[in-house]
Amino acid sequence: MEKENLVKICKVDDIPENKGVRFEIDDYDLAIFKIKGEIFVINNVCPHNHTPQMFNGHLMGASIACPIHGWKFDLKTGKTLNNNSDIKTFASKVIDGYLFVSLPKKFFKW
Ligand code: FES
Repeated sequence: MEKENLVKICKVDDIPENKGVRFEIDDYDLAIFKIKGEIFVINNVCPHNHTPQMFNGHLMGASIACPIHGWKFDLKTGKTLNNNSDIKTFASKVIDGYLFVSLPKKFFKW
């Protein structure tokens, strides 16, 4: 069972424009981008070889290419742009200048 869990990440002003940053928090490895002031949060782990390098990817407008083998994804939707697997995206919001990301919290039923 999963429940929405908004997690405070950092000040939005601390995220550089057009350059990915990596945040590892709880069990999540995130790649965060700010493009023309808009924030995008995706899984930092590429669905191809499970390499945690998406934050180092090549930005092309609002899409990104993995730096390892070049799989491309739409940053907003996570959809593949070259008929491969999609990448997970995370909803985010800015509150009082801080970025919050919705990270589902896992609860176990024993
Ligand atoms: S690990 Fe990302 S495209 Fe191969």
